[in-house]
Amino acid sequence: MASLPAYVPGRKIPGAIVLASNESPYGLLPGVADVLAERTGSVSRYPDMVSSELIATIADHHGVEPERVAVGAGSVEVCGQLASAVVDDGGEVVFGWRAFEAYPIITAVAGGAAVKVPLDAQHVHDVDAMIAAVTDRTRLVFLCNPNNPTGTAIGGAELRRLVLGIPSDVLVVIDEAYREYVDPDAVPDAFELLGDRPNVAVTRTFSKAYALAGLRVGYCLAAPDVAAAVRKCQVPFSVSGLAQAAAVAALGDREEVARRAKLTIAERDRVRAALVDSGYDVPPSQANFVWLALGGRSAAFAEACLARNVIVRPFAGEGVRVTIGTDAENDAFLDVALSL
Ligand SMILES: Cc1ncc(COP(=O)(O)O)c(C=O)c1O
Repeated sequence: MASLPAYVPGRKIPGAIVLASNESPYGLLPGVADVLAERTGSVSRYPDMVSSELIATIADHHGVEPERVAVGAGSVEVCGQLASAVVDDGGEVVFGWRAFEAYPIITAVAGGAAVKVPLDAQHVHDVDAMIAAVTDRTRLVFLCNPNNPTGTAIGGAELRRLVLGIPSDVLVVIDEAYREYVDPDAVPDAFELLGDRPNVAVTRTFSKAYALAGLRVGYCLAAPDVAAAVRKCQVPFSVSGLAQAAAVAALGDREEVARRAKLTIAERDRVRAALVDSGYDVPPSQANFVWLALGGRSAAFAEACLARNVIVRPFAGEGVRVTIGTDAENDAFLDVALSL
């Protein structure tokens, strides 16, 4: 336990502009708000333990059989379920670094050993180095695509090369938490591209573009035997009835989700261009955040933002991740950043 890294959540201060947790700035989807108002009376009862309507709706959304879907309380729990399913004592888990900060925690909790593969100089996953890091002790490879916190993504050819370069008895989990913000021509849907391979699983979440971070729903698409194992590793009843109903409604609000994602993408590109124009090193982002590679200036930059009421997410010595908010929130951030 002493060696286990603690997850550091984005800060929250009442009244501040919060650009630290990659949440949607637009609030509940209209269809979800109605469903929640109707369903609050149901919380005295246990939910449907197997989330049957939610799983059927997700399966329909992706055009796959329900046997290939498993859910959890957020995709972070699903990643944990995947690790519990395949990582034995001392089994190695390979992932790029820096990537989603939960991977080392999930690995350690599952009894595994983390193998961190540095990103390349452009802050992008190094596919060759990841393949080279796989040994006969490797049980799982996480690929965060687009990557949190750098926003960078690898395209179809690289995705295919990574998966084909990894032995078929090693599970490859492609974490697509930010899928809705991606240019689909540059970065194909990993499950459409590689989902026929039995060792590929893709995770998605309702926490970002679907604006349900507080209700905790995520899922994976995988081969039926992997999905079945992931279901067995779920904490019973971890996805509440309200969360299940909200996620079903959110999938029905697809046009509004796409409209909001488009706004975020336009704002992301505007924010990045302004930062790059004024000399910041910001890799192209396919997510709802941008990464400022500030190295040793990261903590001071975040403090300067905080002093002007804007909360961003520093990774000391490495960089600062800034979530794209509303136009006004982004302007407030740019005011600070361009004045430093
Ligand atoms: C890459 C990535 N995966 C998974 C998650 C977990 O999201 P949730 O558990 O809310 O679905 C996050 C959240 O920040 C993330 O950045």
